[in-house]
Amino acid sequence: MLLRPAMAGPYVALRKALFSMDAERVHRLAMAGLRAWSDVCDVDQHGDMCRDPQLARTVFGVTFPNPLGLAAGFDKDAEAVPAWQALGFGFVEVGTVTRHPQPGNDKPRLFRLPADQALLNRLGFNNHGAEACARALSAWRAAGRVHVPVGVNLGKSKVTAPADAPADYAFSFGVTADVADYVVVNVSSPNTPGLRDLQKTDELARILDPLQAHNAARGKRVPLLVKVAPDLADDDAVAVARLCADRGVDGLIVSNTTIARAGLQGPVPEGPGGVSGRPLFARSTALLRLLKADVGDKLVFVGVGGIFDADDARAKLQAGASLLQAYTGFVYAGPSFARDVLRGLHAPSRGPSSA
Ligand SMILES: Cc1cc2nc3c(=O)[nH]c(=O)nc-3n(C[C@H](O)[C@H](O)[C@H](O)COP(=O)(O)O)c2cc1C
Repeated sequence: MLLRPAMAGPYVALRKALFSMDAERVHRLAMAGLRAWSDVCDVDQHGDMCRDPQLARTVFGVTFPNPLGLAAGFDKDAEAVPAWQALGFGFVEVGTVTRHPQPGNDKPRLFRLPADQALLNRLGFNNHGAEACARALSAWRAAGRVHVPVGVNLGKSKVTAPADAPADYAFSFGVTADVADYVVVNVSSPNTPGLRDLQKTDELARILDPLQAHNAARGKRVPLLVKVAPDLADDDAVAVARLCADRGVDGLIVSNTTIARAGLQGPVPEGPGGVSGRPLFARSTALLRLLKADVGDKLVFVGVGGIFDADDARAKLQAGASLLQAYTGFVYAGPSFARDVLRGLHAPSRGPSSA
């Protein structure tokens, strides 16, 4: 396999060892390490390239030290927020969390697709619940350990019937809004039966309207974003974006994982699940461009899907993203991932002003 620049370096040897082990076991080990490191790691508030003012941006009233965030799903329960910022990420999205704590789907449920530089997961929102996440985040904040924006991504509990989804999201919103810099309504994971049906505009409006009413009644409204699937037909995606703009939503995260398998080069595990990483780049970027062209500045766009290096990041910015997120690129490129991408974006000849 050809290694692109962001994937070179000492991590390659370690990755070989890690990739020989079960993917979810490695994830648990990584989280244990990051959690332990979170108690002692520090961020250099000045002089760190990841905090260079040239990379900073303010959107929906929140200032981000740089535009590259950790995508939802890695640190679902907000266990290692200080570690992510020490690795250079400009923001962290924790979750998905649900109203009811839940174990997720049966194992095995996380797989690597190395020939495609991809992952396939059917985790099914394994998480400790929205209240536990809020407590964890609040503790990091009380300890003065949070120096980047932290978003909280909300999903529907598996036990909750689709008809009761609005109350389920409203509960989670109620307990997390005070500790979040932004909140995401995730209606796009392929691993909770029926969840993506909530992207139908009337269903989505039933969820968003109570949240916005709650938001309006708060002293200070928390920015609200919606995360969409790349598998939506273009017309349906445009309808979602227009609804969001109409309902005062602040932004769209484009996109979640895909159920598509077309074009994958290597073997793919049987069964359902969402594919992330390199194969997702083209569709998620095209969808981002389409939606940005349609709704323009009425929504802030977060570009996610297949970012492995600065060129990928730049392409998302050029397609209309103000912020970026990554998950799979970090798994393949290792701890230097965020710094490598940001160093490339920071390069004077091809700076973020080209966005
Ligand atoms: C193992 C795994 C778990 C994920 N869990 C969530 C999740 O809980 N909520 C969510 O909104 N997205 C989740 N995602 C999707 C990512 O946030 C992201 O949208 C997607 O992976 C595309 O980005 P990437 O190509 O950089 O990985 C998950 C992705 C992976 C690989």
